[in-house]
Amino acid sequence: MILSSGHLCAQSFVNTLMPEPAKLTAEQGSFAITPSFIVAVTHYRDARLDGAIGRMLHRLEYATGTPIAKDIHKDAGGASLVIDVQGPGEPIQSVDEDESYSLDVTSNGATLKANTVVGALRGMETLLQLVQVQQGKFVLPAVSIQDSPRFQWRGLLIDCGRHFEPVDVIKRTLDGMAAVKLNVFHWHLTEDQGFRIESKVFPKLTEMGSDGLYYTQEQAREIVEYARERGIRVVPEFDMPGHTTSWFVSYPEISSGAGPYQIRREFGISDYAMDPTRESTYKFLDKFIGEMASLFPDPYMHIGGDETNGVQWKNNPKIVAFMQQHNMKDTAALQTYFNQRLLKIVQKHHKHMVGWDEIFNPGLPKDVVIQSWRGTESLNAAAKQGYQGILSAPYYLDAMKSAGVHYLADPIPVDSDLTPEQRKLVLGGEVCMWGEQLYERTIDSRIWPRTAAIAERLWSPANVRDVDDMYRRLGVMSIRLEGLGLTHLTHEDAALRALAGTEDTNALRFLASVLEPVSFGERYQAQHTSQLTPLDRLVDAVRPDPPAKHRIEFLVTEFLKDPAQQPDDARSLTFFFKGMQMLAPKIQEQVSASPLLAEDVTLRAQQLPDLGKIGADAIAYLGGETAPSGWKRNSLAAIDAAQKPSGIVRFVFLGPLRQLVDAVQEK
Ligand code: ACM
Repeated sequence: MILSSGHLCAQSFVNTLMPEPAKLTAEQGSFAITPSFIVAVTHYRDARLDGAIGRMLHRLEYATGTPIAKDIHKDAGGASLVIDVQGPGEPIQSVDEDESYSLDVTSNGATLKANTVVGALRGMETLLQLVQVQQGKFVLPAVSIQDSPRFQWRGLLIDCGRHFEPVDVIKRTLDGMAAVKLNVFHWHLTEDQGFRIESKVFPKLTEMGSDGLYYTQEQAREIVEYARERGIRVVPEFDMPGHTTSWFVSYPEISSGAGPYQIRREFGISDYAMDPTRESTYKFLDKFIGEMASLFPDPYMHIGGDETNGVQWKNNPKIVAFMQQHNMKDTAALQTYFNQRLLKIVQKHHKHMVGWDEIFNPGLPKDVVIQSWRGTESLNAAAKQGYQGILSAPYYLDAMKSAGVHYLADPIPVDSDLTPEQRKLVLGGEVCMWGEQLYERTIDSRIWPRTAAIAERLWSPANVRDVDDMYRRLGVMSIRLEGLGLTHLTHEDAALRALAGTEDTNALRFLASVLEPVSFGERYQAQHTSQLTPLDRLVDAVRPDPPAKHRIEFLVTEFLKDPAQQPDDARSLTFFFKGMQMLAPKIQEQVSASPLLAEDVTLRAQQLPDLGKIGADAIAYLGGETAPSGWKRNSLAAIDAAQKPSGIVRFVFLGPLRQLVDAVQEK
């Protein structure tokens, strides 16, 4: 791979922090990490803080190869790291939790101060990210950091309904979230395709609606505790009245039709929904929500509310009659009625209600938090009417957009017309990882490292927006995340080995490094994926926004500023394009030998050497050689052809390649 990161300069502080702190001053000097590294906790101390210190020291050990004693001292004298925490914070982490901290490193050691344990957790993640090599030694560079988040709600949604994610996957995801200072795990637990949480009151929900793939209450408590230890709230979602087919398999009587029902295997919007007109539905929900309210301690509960199309309501004469009796002009009005009834139940069990933006309708009580997925407009409209909101629309990972695109989407952009009071109602944002087209082996590479870029958007000051610098730090962050046990990098290799049936995958790795999956929607249209679709294709192996994508964009932009004066960029680009040509025969041989690869990427493997030749020729022509007439037209036609859909993967370098060709002057 030609793509190295960073411009390391031996002695000075190199900022690879992610998210970027609110305030950072680099100072002179550094503090070396040695086996005599000692931690002192001088003020408040509890089991959560001790556990986090133990994990931090273990990670510090492994990052530096330095054995470090785990005892925690009380005296600041002689300590390498003094941790000074004022108190525990809230017994149940609140949306207003104080997450601020300060971190000062001098040549004598480091001091971390925070008002709460959660603040200290955030500071310890920063401390670990500060570790760097100076003069062949691992050090903490001297810095002074004062940090606190811009937004108080910084979440990641994981849809465990469409594909179940084992407890270990959730735990390693929580580790990754903590590393980038995300603080809300939005756990989407029920879907048409699966009911994933044990109910002791209604055990048939999982017995009949989960294929045996669900979390026991004990596992749910374990995950809530694991998250709390890392300063992360767990907000469960029970999506209703639509997206509920899996409930109806065992309880058809709460549906709006006759049944019987089966777990839904296909994706997309279902016509089925709960019956909002029957009192028995609310009795059922009162018991279920009461049970879940005590299982999940967070003060917020998400009730979904999205994508209920009203078809089953309109097809039920009793429901139509109910709507007429109550002067409801459409099914949206019926859903508002359902939400009002549901809100009372949620409040009775001492929770605040959160819902998707479809529930934002006239008559919605002000207590409800709106999660905006269909656009930024609904977030603004809600704030203008006094509702709190969370932005998700630009943070859908299954759109397979680049980290840079997600990164620049701001919950409150500079040109926002919200007043200062209305801005306070924007609590933050949530990354959404929907589960249609992933499973436990591929989920990491869909979430990471892109989510780290969004985490920075939600934590760091609004003016931290340099995309190139974000990518420079993201490359480092991606390796750190792998160190936590995330498999976003290793899975690609494992999947290529499986597809090719050999360990000899260097050439295929090159192909994979310049491909990315098409969006959820494009794949859905091409393949009609369902819950039963095996996710073992090349499209599942390759990563969205692989490092080569930004790297080539960056190199081409730099090169084109003055082609004659950029010999290093010219060399790197030529090496990259010639690599395509050189590796193509081996790639084509392995692709044709593997039925799954052959079906998906025969055409891409054929296109690769031609595109490589166009790139290498363009660099030569821009360096002074003469382009024959007609070359440009033919080259652009080849790029157009390569841009057409094939195998649900696309090349990541066609934009910059086109720029190179466009810049060539023909004779
Ligand atoms: C959603 O994407 N239907 C919330």
